[in-house]
Amino acid sequence: MSYTTCSDEDANNRQAEVSRLSWTRHLSEENIKPFDAIPGLTALPIIGIMHHFIPFFGTIGPKNNFFDMFEVLYRKYGSVVKMEGMLAKGTMVMFFEPDHYDKIYRAEEMPAPYRSGFQALEYYREELRKDRFNGVYGLTTAQGKKWRDFRTKVNPALLKPKIVKLYAPGLEEIADDLVARLWSIREDPAALSKEFETEITKWSLESVALVCLGKRIGCLQDNLSDDHPAKKLMHCSKTVPDLSFKLEFAPKFINMRNSSWFKELMKIFDTQWEVSEMYIEQAKKAINERGHGIPEEDQSILEKLLAIDEKVAVMMANEMLFAGIDTVSYAVTGLLYNLAVNKVAQDKLRQEIHAQAGSKYLKACVKESLRLLPVLSANLRQTTKEHIVAGYQIPAGTFAIAPNEYLSKLEKYYPQAREFIPERWLVDKEDPLYYGNAHPMVTLPFGFGVRSCIGRRIAELEIEILVKKLLDKVEVQWTGPPLKVVIKVINNFKKPYHFKFVEAK
Ligand code: HEM
Repeated sequence: MSYTTCSDEDANNRQAEVSRLSWTRHLSEENIKPFDAIPGLTALPIIGIMHHFIPFFGTIGPKNNFFDMFEVLYRKYGSVVKMEGMLAKGTMVMFFEPDHYDKIYRAEEMPAPYRSGFQALEYYREELRKDRFNGVYGLTTAQGKKWRDFRTKVNPALLKPKIVKLYAPGLEEIADDLVARLWSIREDPAALSKEFETEITKWSLESVALVCLGKRIGCLQDNLSDDHPAKKLMHCSKTVPDLSFKLEFAPKFINMRNSSWFKELMKIFDTQWEVSEMYIEQAKKAINERGHGIPEEDQSILEKLLAIDEKVAVMMANEMLFAGIDTVSYAVTGLLYNLAVNKVAQDKLRQEIHAQAGSKYLKACVKESLRLLPVLSANLRQTTKEHIVAGYQIPAGTFAIAPNEYLSKLEKYYPQAREFIPERWLVDKEDPLYYGNAHPMVTLPFGFGVRSCIGRRIAELEIEILVKKLLDKVEVQWTGPPLKVVIKVINNFKKPYHFKFVEAK
């Protein structure tokens, strides 16, 4: 008998062949359809999927936002829809049945859920400015073990409700300042319409900076000059989603590293880093000068994290000063709009506030508003293994999309689905409105599982404090046509705003 030895490569090839054959047998045995059989939009070599969105001729036509796009795709192709060449030109599959993406999202929880999508930021941190980041990439772009290690270190400081609540007194002062400023411009509808977005963004930055750095950074003042560092951070937070969106959805040939959008984005990342680093260094200096060992309630998130791991502390602070600005200002603007156009709910909420009767109804209003106007219209996981879902083979590397905003407005999950009814989050099981009748994966404004939003508790606290302060004194009205959502990586509202503030009774 002769024995032959084979190289590692041969062995790997044989192994791959065996896996392929057994996989194919498995597919035919189970009657499972291949990935290619999923219906949807295909990409052309140069222009990608742009042709589908051309007026009159495109299969989809132009769409104002993701919600409208999801609606057309669902009606046209059914509950599993493929879209080639999106999100850094990968292949995306949208699942319109919550059970389907539930299966994938749960299976991807361990060892670490993979959520890619910020390709330009990944490139910036891992290649362009590699020396600066030195392997610590932060929550938004890290994956696998790096992400898990980072997240394990920061979870307690950011997510424990007891710890987060300690920031309430400082946040109350900031909310008082914003209410006073909005009140002072209320008589001039043009000024209010023009300034509302700026003021609310200043408030969200000032609030997250206080929690993060432990000090006020002076956003809520008149005539903040364009070269004020806070103004620069606000500009970054607005421009990054804008440019990222253009790059992700542009025809294939534009998405090149030498395109002007890409270069501009790299400059903005530089500015964001430099400004946040300046604030972080100032805060570190102040901590060192006054010494450690102060009570926990007086420590910023930065100070708590510095005691654990300096690099992680700096990176987390940097991400907070980015991810905690426009997300919160969008959410609170949506809530004020919903309350303005639903006077009964607003009055009921004000009663709760005046009676100092806790925050049950307020919390229900926040949930209901995020159901109707979520900051992100969909959730995303990139698969790290193969899945069989809805009778299809879903290979590793697929972007699995959960179109939560679209599903959250379907009558089959929520009765009177398009209406703002905070009571659905409060009534008991017997009531047809009961929120628990909907599949638990339908409405996920803060994402899912171990990778869900790390700023959730902070955001909720900021919003609750501001709304309590504002509605205590002010009745919020809306004097224009319905508010519209426009498409960006994160949702955005079409301007102008038509808020009117009058004295509350
Ligand atoms: C109402 C406001 C906010 C909403 C609706 C929101 C929503 C989300 C969502 C949907 C995700 C993705 C979760 C997933 O993939 O499962 C996320 C991730 C994240 N959010 Fe928020 N967010 C908000 C505020 C904030 C704030 C205030 C901060 C910072 C303090 C923040 C920091 C982050 C970070 C760092 C991640 C990445 C987490 C990870 O990958 O481990 N967010 N957020």
